[in-house]
Amino acid sequence: MATILVALTLLALASSVLASDPSPLQDFCVAINETKDGVFVNGKFCKGPELASANDFFLRGLHIPGNTSNQLGSAVTPANVAQIPGLNTLGISLVRIDYAPYGLNPPHTHPRATEILVVLEGTLYVGFVTSNPDNRLITKVLYKGDVFVFPVGLIHFQFNIGKTNTVAFAGLSSQNPGVITIANSVFGSNPPISDDVLAKAFQVDKKVVDHLQAQFWMDIN
Ligand SMILES: *[C@@H]1O[C@H](CO)[C@@H](O)[C@H](O)[C@H]1NC(C)=O
Ligand SMILES: *[C@@H]1O[C@H](CO)[C@@H](O)[C@H](O)[C@H]1NC(C)=O
Repeated sequence: MATILVALTLLALASSVLASDPSPLQDFCVAINETKDGVFVNGKFCKGPELASANDFFLRGLHIPGNTSNQLGSAVTPANVAQIPGLNTLGISLVRIDYAPYGLNPPHTHPRATEILVVLEGTLYVGFVTSNPDNRLITKVLYKGDVFVFPVGLIHFQFNIGKTNTVAFAGLSSQNPGVITIANSVFGSNPPISDDVLAKAFQVDKKVVDHLQAQFWMDIN
Protein backbone atom coordinates (compact mmCIF):
# COMPACT_ATOMS: atom_id res chain seq x y z
CA MET A 1 0.00 0.00 0.00
CA ALA A 2 2.76 2.43 1.01
CA THR A 3 4.64 1.63 -2.20
CA ILE A 4 1.54 2.32 -4.26
CA LEU A 5 1.02 5.66 -2.47
CA VAL A 6 4.64 6.66 -3.09
CA ALA A 7 4.31 5.64 -6.75
CA LEU A 8 1.08 7.65 -7.14
CA THR A 9 2.64 10.70 -5.47
CA LEU A 10 5.67 10.50 -7.76
CA LEU A 11 3.36 10.16 -10.78
CA ALA A 12 1.34 13.22 -9.69
CA LEU A 13 4.54 15.24 -9.21
CA ALA A 14 5.93 14.09 -12.54
CA SER A 15 2.76 15.05 -14.42
CA SER A 16 2.65 18.50 -12.83
CA VAL A 17 6.28 19.06 -13.79
CA LEU A 18 5.55 17.97 -17.37
CA ALA A 19 2.45 20.19 -17.62
CA SER A 20 4.44 23.19 -18.89
CA ASP A 21 7.21 23.70 -21.40
CA PRO A 22 10.52 22.11 -20.34
CA SER A 23 13.07 24.31 -18.61
CA PRO A 24 15.97 25.13 -20.93
CA LEU A 25 19.11 23.08 -20.28
CA GLN A 26 21.35 25.62 -22.00
CA ASP A 27 21.31 29.43 -22.54
CA PHE A 28 19.13 29.13 -25.62
CA CYS A 29 18.28 26.85 -28.48
CA VAL A 30 17.53 28.87 -31.64
CA ALA A 31 15.09 26.86 -33.75
CA ILE A 32 16.04 25.64 -37.23
CA ASN A 33 14.19 23.41 -39.65
CA GLU A 34 17.22 21.46 -40.85
CA THR A 35 18.89 18.79 -38.73
CA LYS A 36 22.20 19.45 -40.49
CA ASP A 37 24.56 21.22 -38.02
CA GLY A 38 21.80 21.08 -35.41
CA VAL A 39 20.96 19.28 -32.18
CA PHE A 40 17.49 17.99 -31.39
CA VAL A 41 16.33 18.87 -27.85
CA ASN A 42 12.55 19.37 -27.77
CA GLY A 43 10.10 21.42 -29.79
CA LYS A 44 12.28 22.30 -32.73
CA PHE A 45 15.81 21.52 -33.89
CA CYS A 46 18.43 23.90 -32.54
CA LYS A 47 20.91 25.97 -34.44
CA GLY A 48 24.53 25.65 -33.34
CA PRO A 49 24.84 28.38 -30.63
CA GLU A 50 27.78 29.98 -32.46
CA LEU A 51 25.49 30.60 -35.44
CA ALA A 52 22.84 32.45 -33.37
CA SER A 53 22.39 36.15 -34.08
CA ALA A 54 20.27 39.04 -32.77
CA ASN A 55 17.63 38.47 -35.43
CA ASP A 56 16.92 35.01 -34.00
CA PHE A 57 15.58 36.79 -30.91
CA PHE A 58 13.87 39.67 -32.70
CA LEU A 59 10.52 40.51 -34.30
CA ARG A 60 9.45 43.83 -35.78
CA GLY A 61 5.93 45.15 -36.29
CA LEU A 62 3.80 44.57 -33.21
CA HIS A 63 2.85 48.28 -33.28
CA ILE A 64 0.82 47.54 -36.43
CA PRO A 65 -2.89 46.88 -35.68
CA GLY A 66 -4.28 43.54 -36.84
CA ASN A 67 -7.04 43.56 -39.46
CA THR A 68 -10.34 43.27 -37.57
CA SER A 69 -12.54 43.37 -40.73
CA ASN A 70 -14.00 39.92 -40.16
CA GLN A 71 -17.16 38.41 -38.69
CA LEU A 72 -15.72 38.44 -35.16
CA GLY A 73 -14.23 41.94 -35.29
CA SER A 74 -10.92 40.90 -33.78
CA ALA A 75 -7.43 39.84 -34.82
CA VAL A 76 -4.57 38.10 -33.04
CA THR A 77 -0.97 38.80 -34.08
CA PRO A 78 1.32 36.12 -32.62
CA ALA A 79 4.94 36.43 -31.52
CA ASN A 80 5.79 32.82 -30.70
CA VAL A 81 8.47 30.34 -31.77
CA ALA A 82 7.06 30.35 -35.31
CA GLN A 83 7.95 34.04 -35.63
CA ILE A 84 10.92 34.19 -33.20
CA PRO A 85 12.99 30.99 -33.46
CA GLY A 86 15.07 32.06 -30.44
CA LEU A 87 12.02 31.31 -28.23
CA ASN A 88 12.56 27.57 -28.74
CA THR A 89 12.62 25.78 -25.32
CA LEU A 90 12.17 29.06 -23.40
CA GLY A 91 8.52 28.52 -22.42
CA ILE A 92 7.18 31.99 -23.22
CA SER A 93 5.53 33.93 -26.05
CA LEU A 94 3.43 37.00 -26.78
CA VAL A 95 0.36 38.08 -28.77
CA ARG A 96 -1.13 41.40 -29.77
CA ILE A 97 -4.92 41.36 -29.93
CA ASP A 98 -6.99 44.03 -31.70
CA TYR A 99 -10.73 44.40 -31.25
CA ALA A 100 -13.08 46.57 -33.29
CA PRO A 101 -16.01 48.02 -31.29
CA TYR A 102 -18.00 44.95 -30.10
CA GLY A 103 -15.27 42.71 -31.47
CA LEU A 104 -14.92 39.28 -29.85
CA ASN A 105 -12.06 36.89 -29.25
CA PRO A 106 -14.40 33.87 -28.98
CA PRO A 107 -14.28 31.18 -26.27
CA HIS A 108 -11.04 29.21 -26.67
CA THR A 109 -8.34 27.52 -24.62
CA HIS A 110 -4.55 27.30 -24.78
CA PRO A 111 -3.66 23.68 -24.00
CA ARG A 112 -0.08 24.54 -23.04
CA ALA A 113 -0.17 28.06 -21.54
CA THR A 114 -1.41 30.38 -18.86
CA GLU A 115 -2.08 33.82 -20.32
CA ILE A 116 -1.56 37.23 -18.71
CA LEU A 117 -3.23 40.07 -20.62
CA VAL A 118 -2.84 43.85 -20.35
CA VAL A 119 -5.23 46.35 -21.96
CA LEU A 120 -3.42 49.26 -23.64
CA GLU A 121 -6.49 51.03 -25.05
CA GLY A 122 -10.24 50.50 -24.74
CA THR A 123 -12.59 48.37 -22.66
CA LEU A 124 -12.80 44.57 -22.50
CA TYR A 125 -15.30 42.26 -20.86
CA VAL A 126 -13.24 39.11 -20.17
CA GLY A 127 -13.91 35.81 -18.50
CA PHE A 128 -12.98 32.19 -18.02
CA VAL A 129 -14.84 29.11 -16.79
CA THR A 130 -13.44 26.73 -14.19
CA SER A 131 -13.37 23.00 -14.89
CA ASN A 132 -15.99 20.40 -13.86
CA PRO A 133 -17.94 20.06 -11.69
CA ASP A 134 -18.27 23.74 -10.74
CA ASN A 135 -17.96 25.36 -14.19
CA ARG A 136 -17.86 28.71 -12.43
CA LEU A 137 -17.74 31.76 -14.72
CA ILE A 138 -15.22 34.36 -13.51
CA THR A 139 -15.48 37.72 -15.31
CA LYS A 140 -14.20 41.26 -15.13
CA VAL A 141 -14.50 44.48 -17.12
CA LEU A 142 -11.01 45.74 -17.96
CA TYR A 143 -9.93 49.29 -18.78
CA LYS A 144 -6.66 50.78 -20.01
CA GLY A 145 -3.77 49.49 -17.88
CA ASP A 146 -5.73 46.62 -16.34
CA VAL A 147 -4.18 43.14 -16.22
CA PHE A 148 -6.03 39.80 -16.14
CA VAL A 149 -4.91 36.15 -15.97
CA PHE A 150 -6.43 33.18 -17.83
CA PRO A 151 -5.19 29.95 -16.16
CA VAL A 152 -3.75 27.23 -18.40
CA GLY A 153 -6.29 25.10 -20.28
CA LEU A 154 -9.42 26.95 -19.16
CA ILE A 155 -11.98 28.24 -21.68
CA HIS A 156 -11.83 32.03 -21.88
CA PHE A 157 -12.95 34.98 -24.05
CA GLN A 158 -12.53 38.74 -24.47
CA PHE A 159 -15.28 41.05 -25.76
CA ASN A 160 -14.83 44.73 -26.60
CA ILE A 161 -17.84 46.36 -24.95
CA GLY A 162 -16.63 49.89 -25.75
CA LYS A 163 -17.45 52.13 -28.71
CA THR A 164 -13.78 52.45 -29.68
CA ASN A 165 -11.07 50.04 -30.79
CA THR A 166 -9.37 48.06 -28.06
CA VAL A 167 -5.74 46.90 -28.04
CA ALA A 168 -4.34 44.29 -25.67
CA PHE A 169 -1.06 42.40 -25.39
CA ALA A 170 -0.75 39.05 -23.65
CA GLY A 171 2.15 36.92 -22.47
CA LEU A 172 1.75 33.13 -22.63
CA SER A 173 3.75 30.55 -20.73
CA SER A 174 4.70 28.46 -23.76
CA GLN A 175 6.81 28.97 -26.86
CA ASN A 176 3.83 27.45 -28.72
CA PRO A 177 0.67 27.82 -26.56
CA GLY A 178 -1.72 26.24 -29.08
CA VAL A 179 -5.30 27.42 -29.53
CA ILE A 180 -8.51 25.39 -29.41
CA THR A 181 -11.44 27.58 -30.43
CA ILE A 182 -14.48 25.85 -28.98
CA ALA A 183 -17.00 26.48 -31.79
CA ASN A 184 -14.43 25.65 -34.49
CA SER A 185 -13.39 22.39 -32.85
CA VAL A 186 -16.91 21.24 -32.04
CA PHE A 187 -18.91 22.45 -35.06
CA GLY A 188 -16.19 23.11 -37.63
CA SER A 189 -14.08 19.95 -37.41
CA ASN A 190 -12.92 18.21 -40.58
CA PRO A 191 -14.54 15.76 -41.11
CA PRO A 192 -17.57 16.87 -39.06
CA ILE A 193 -18.38 15.13 -35.77
CA SER A 194 -21.51 12.99 -36.23
CA ASP A 195 -24.69 15.01 -35.56
CA ASP A 196 -25.90 12.06 -33.46
CA VAL A 197 -22.99 12.71 -31.14
CA LEU A 198 -23.42 16.49 -31.04
CA ALA A 199 -27.24 16.43 -30.77
CA LYS A 200 -26.97 14.19 -27.73
CA ALA A 201 -24.02 16.05 -26.21
CA PHE A 202 -25.67 19.47 -26.53
CA GLN A 203 -29.21 18.17 -25.95
CA VAL A 204 -30.59 19.83 -29.08
CA ASP A 205 -32.29 18.71 -32.27
CA LYS A 206 -30.01 17.43 -35.06
CA LYS A 207 -31.27 20.33 -37.24
CA VAL A 208 -29.68 22.76 -34.80
CA VAL A 209 -26.40 20.83 -35.04
CA ASP A 210 -26.58 20.73 -38.85
CA HIS A 211 -27.23 24.48 -38.90
CA LEU A 212 -24.23 25.13 -36.68
CA GLN A 213 -22.02 22.78 -38.70
CA ALA A 214 -22.97 24.66 -41.88
CA GLN A 215 -21.57 27.95 -40.53
CA PHE A 216 -18.16 29.31 -41.42
CA TRP A 217 -16.09 29.07 -38.22
CA MET A 218 -13.39 31.59 -38.81
CA ASP A 219 -10.04 31.23 -37.10
CA ILE A 220 -8.60 34.56 -35.94
CA ASN A 221 -5.90 33.01 -33.77
C1 LIG B 1 10.72 26.60 -41.11
O1 LIG B 1 9.95 26.21 -42.21
C2 LIG B 1 8.70 26.89 -42.30
C3 LIG B 1 7.89 26.23 -43.42
O2 LIG B 1 8.70 25.99 -44.54
C4 LIG B 1 8.96 28.37 -42.52
O3 LIG B 1 7.75 29.08 -42.63
C5 LIG B 1 9.76 28.92 -41.35
O4 LIG B 1 10.07 30.28 -41.56
C6 LIG B 1 11.03 28.11 -41.17
N1 LIG B 1 11.65 28.54 -39.90
C7 LIG B 1 12.95 28.71 -39.77
C8 LIG B 1 13.40 29.11 -38.40
O5 LIG B 1 13.74 28.55 -40.68
C1 LIG C 1 -8.74 43.47 -44.03
O1 LIG C 1 -9.39 42.25 -44.31
C2 LIG C 1 -10.46 42.41 -45.26
C3 LIG C 1 -11.18 41.07 -45.32
O2 LIG C 1 -10.27 40.01 -45.55
C4 LIG C 1 -9.87 42.83 -46.59
O3 LIG C 1 -10.91 43.00 -47.54
C5 LIG C 1 -9.14 44.17 -46.39
O4 LIG C 1 -8.49 44.53 -47.59
C6 LIG C 1 -8.10 44.05 -45.28
N1 LIG C 1 -7.58 45.39 -44.99
C7 LIG C 1 -6.27 45.62 -44.92
C8 LIG C 1 -5.88 47.00 -44.55
O5 LIG C 1 -5.42 44.75 -45.12
